[in-house]
Amino acid sequence: MRSHYCGKLDLSLTGEVVQLCGWVHSRRDHGGVIFIDLRDRAGIAQIVFDPENSVAFSAAEGVRSEYVLRVEGQVRRRPPGTENPHLHSGMVEVLAMRLEVLNRSEPLPFQLDEAELNESVRLKYRYLDLRRDHMRRNILLRHTLTRTLRRFLEDHDFVEIETPVLTKSTPEGARDYLVPSRTHPGHFFALPQSPQLFKQLLMVAGFERYFQVTRCFRDEDLRADRQPEFTQLDIETSFLDEDGIMRLMEEMIRTAFRAVLAVELPDPFPRMTYAEAMTRFGVDRPDLRIGLELVEVADLVRNAEFKVFAQAANSPGGRVAALRLPQGERLSRKDIDDYTAYVAGFGAKGLAYIKVNDATRGREGLQSPILKFLSDETLSALMARCRAATGDIIFFGADQARVVNDALGALRIRLGHDLGLVEQAWKPVWVVDFPMFEYNAEGRRWQALHHPFTAPKESDRERVDIDPQNALSRAYDMVLNGSEIGGGSIRIHREEVQEKVFGLLGIGAQEARAKFGFLLDALKFGAPPHGGIAFGLDRVAAIMAGADSIRDVIAFPKTQKATCLLTDAPSVVDEAQLRELHIQLRKPPEPVSGAG
Ligand code: AMO
Ligand code: AMP
Repeated sequence: MRSHYCGKLDLSLTGEVVQLCGWVHSRRDHGGVIFIDLRDRAGIAQIVFDPENSVAFSAAEGVRSEYVLRVEGQVRRRPPGTENPHLHSGMVEVLAMRLEVLNRSEPLPFQLDEAELNESVRLKYRYLDLRRDHMRRNILLRHTLTRTLRRFLEDHDFVEIETPVLTKSTPEGARDYLVPSRTHPGHFFALPQSPQLFKQLLMVAGFERYFQVTRCFRDEDLRADRQPEFTQLDIETSFLDEDGIMRLMEEMIRTAFRAVLAVELPDPFPRMTYAEAMTRFGVDRPDLRIGLELVEVADLVRNAEFKVFAQAANSPGGRVAALRLPQGERLSRKDIDDYTAYVAGFGAKGLAYIKVNDATRGREGLQSPILKFLSDETLSALMARCRAATGDIIFFGADQARVVNDALGALRIRLGHDLGLVEQAWKPVWVVDFPMFEYNAEGRRWQALHHPFTAPKESDRERVDIDPQNALSRAYDMVLNGSEIGGGSIRIHREEVQEKVFGLLGIGAQEARAKFGFLLDALKFGAPPHGGIAFGLDRVAAIMAGADSIRDVIAFPKTQKATCLLTDAPSVVDEAQLRELHIQLRKPPEPVSGAG
């Protein structure tokens, strides 16, 4: 039906007769001449209807926005002064010879070029939303990305293998989506939170290098970078240590950035320990585009009169940290109140600050509600530690380390964005040397920081028993511009180590057998040393596309409330269907409120 894409016409086709298919992007009546911008996947072409060709002209008169057309016409150079440098086809237009209306369209519920569209409307009419230029670009970018990653892996001997979706729970830290079994009353499949255990079994099977572009399902609180179903580029290898895996994976990401964005990422990526990331940035996924850093000051305020500082500095697990904002004097009282409210959302009980009006005048040059509680000596030590300069403001957090890190870590990012301190750059970093375990104070038990199949560092094998708090793992995360785009580890490949770790996590022998018996069995039959990683493909695509949310790179995403506004899923089902599944509702279902 067509000879060329609208968006690909150019001067080289001048004089040729072409057949185009596409949608009416816009139609303009210019006193006797009709112009139609015809849009297809590749872009837009301008079609001109001259009244001299009365059949085509009168057909064009009846055409409306988003009608689907087939046009035959001759490519010609646009008259001087009417070229459009923003379009690939902007030097030419097509003089229509024939017009065929392939389908009509009702007026759309929104204009495709409207800047501020309500997301609920966009999601309800997603197929129209996807007609918009930047959405189409995002989806095509994602395709290029996936294709590049696949090629890289194939070139490096990886095989793509599918793993089950109806399976058993894999502990990645979220709630499972469950699927009731009809044939086995009271039994459920879990949708995979990741293919973690299957990919390990594929290593035991001897495939050595596996990958899969695969959907994962996690019932967790949603955010801009989290969806209930999302896509992983999942990878596992045998006989490579963490250094080998990290090198190969960053080469893959560099290749993807080169292919998709023509951007050259650093070689090698810098590496940072978890401990350093927490100390300097308060998070394990530091955004290195922002130059602000947390500074430890607990040792300087242990004996201070200011109880808030002294108490935190002297309590086990406490932290007192400072965050210096150069030229922070431009913040108003109201700004500071706003930031205080912001950090309160992360559990901070306050946000002490000192304004440095004149760094040369000691106490006289400083301004702060807490000045009176700090000695000259302490003040000058604090100023020296923070390298304070005239015009700065210094914020403080004092509490349990977790609260201080969460609060000042988030404040750092927020200040960076509010004050335009985010460098225009790509800043990847590997975070390594994660602790094996973290203590869950609520549940009063240890839990795996990555997942329970992650190996301890060789040097920390004994520590796992005697000093679990300080045992480090062989896990690594790839972080890009403050987003965790991938995470993985070297796995435990010996049964006795796996049992020991399960034991520490409070998973008794019986429970381990019931949940992971198949893995423990497999480890008995010559499991090779292995490890891998999984990338959040949606996140990588979103970062590349400059999208605020991963929803913008997913063709049919769910809302923040885990609903699909397009299909109205989840929905109620027939009594009969429930009966077949042996499910009885305790009360009638309430309507789903989808948006949000
Ligand atoms: P992890 O749980 O870190 O590791 O997941 C890997 C990557 O997947 C992305 N991701 C998500 N993206 C969108 N929505 C979500 N809800 C979501 N959750 C995670 C992140 C993350 O870095 N089996 C291990 C990998 C391994 O050890 O090899 C795993 O799943 O970008
Ligand atoms: P207060 O003594 O409660 O009036 O607090 C004095 C100053 O210290 C105020 O600016 C508070 O915002 C700040 N502040 C209080 N608690 C903390 C805390 N845990 N960490 C940092 N600053 C705090």
